[in-house]
Amino acid sequence: MTQASATPTMARWEEDRFQRVRREVLARWPTGAGVDLDEAAAWHREMAPGKNTARVLREAREHGRTLVQPRGGVADIEQHIELLRRLRHAGADLLPTTVDSYTREGRYDDAERGLAQSREAGRSLLNGFPAVNYGVAACRRIVEAIDAPLFCRTASPDCRLTHEIMYAGGSTSCTAGPIVFSLGYAKDYPLAKAIEAWQYSYRMMGAYRERGVTLSVEHYLPISTMVPHSTSMACVILDSLIAAAQGVRDISIGIGQQCHLVQDAAALRAYPALGRHYLDAFGFTDVELSTVMSQWMGGFPADEGQAFGVICMAAMAGYLGGVTYMISKSPHEAAGVPTPEANMHGVSASKMVLRMLADQKFAPMAEIAAEQAILEAETRAIVERALELGEGDAALAAVRAIEAGVIDVPFSPHRSNANQALPARDWRGAVRLARFGGVPIPPDIREHHQAELGKRMAGKPARAPWELLLADVNAISEGMLLPD
Ligand code: 5AD
Repeated sequence: MTQASATPTMARWEEDRFQRVRREVLARWPTGAGVDLDEAAAWHREMAPGKNTARVLREAREHGRTLVQPRGGVADIEQHIELLRRLRHAGADLLPTTVDSYTREGRYDDAERGLAQSREAGRSLLNGFPAVNYGVAACRRIVEAIDAPLFCRTASPDCRLTHEIMYAGGSTSCTAGPIVFSLGYAKDYPLAKAIEAWQYSYRMMGAYRERGVTLSVEHYLPISTMVPHSTSMACVILDSLIAAAQGVRDISIGIGQQCHLVQDAAALRAYPALGRHYLDAFGFTDVELSTVMSQWMGGFPADEGQAFGVICMAAMAGYLGGVTYMISKSPHEAAGVPTPEANMHGVSASKMVLRMLADQKFAPMAEIAAEQAILEAETRAIVERALELGEGDAALAAVRAIEAGVIDVPFSPHRSNANQALPARDWRGAVRLARFGGVPIPPDIREHHQAELGKRMAGKPARAPWELLLADVNAISEGMLLPD
């Protein structure tokens, strides 16, 4: 990795910088030599349109349908293809290739060992598909064996070689974002350096676009337990501006389900206009936007019936929010990576709810409209303040806003996160801030947060804020939304 610039900027990379870094990236593992961008773009252009994410998402938006995608990935390619076929059979509209943790960390030699050991053991000892070790041709075999768009699902500050291999290998979307993945998963990786690594990946997607191929990205903050939607939406909007600046033209902007039906739906309803507003303001008027929601990312109940409850409620929230697609969980979530059967059940339960709801047109709900107005005002306040700090540059805005605690993600493992904002659920289970830290929530909305939190506390013995927070964090895995 080249040194992170002293001052991060969203400016589009010059071609020679991209090419120079590209040589380093592709040299990291022998399969990198198998990537030829012109040839790969030609391969994508020949692909059936039903396998292109941007195309399938546009159709879903036009028809007002909600699509479902599970996660999934195993070490052996034949077993991986079989898993995807079964997930498709269960109703998955978009298919995953979740890469293993070694690959996410760039530890390809460990992935190679894990792959060999998995073959010996006859079962996957990796928690995903080691795409870099397999290389471009093998990845294309997966695409050829299925009839739906394939997503590269990874999660780290630097996924450059994985993107090179998997996009050349026929994937048409990836999980993404320097801000959301740094704040969500990393501790020590400097944000400015993560932004550069992601700019490379985005620039590469831009290079495909120049060759007539639209590749998509999915942005959402993977920690969503008790993180105010407005904070995660601000991160996603900044990541999306950084992506668009390098040439990405199809973006899904998302949230993680928080299990408050109205707030989840409101966030999803607020997103398209907010996203459009900022992308247009920066001149990225030709970027297409979808919305996405991951089903609950917090602790799941071990009881499979209760887990289905969470999954089905996610499907309802997605429906009410008009979401383009959702990432499903499984009834095995509390235990770890699901069996294919459990994974299929997460898909089929979600799809069942969506099918039953499909024609039940509701009149607009006042509660959703009210929460939507709050989330819009909060998100705008955070993004505006961040852009002010960043002198109008989304990359600088992210770095400075996080330093200043304007973007402050509760439970983020990242060193630069301020950890001053303190969330809690209110009397109806909606997520509010009990302590605002540096998050610039407008004054009238602060009063609303405090009033709603006050209603929960009224008449109850006083509790330390951390005690309440802990109870709230664990509530869903214990079978409820509000622990009292
Ligand atoms: N297969 C299925 N699900 C996976 N997850 C992670 N790796 C895999 C895999 N290989 C899921 C976890 C968690 C989410 C973040 O990703 O179970 O729900």
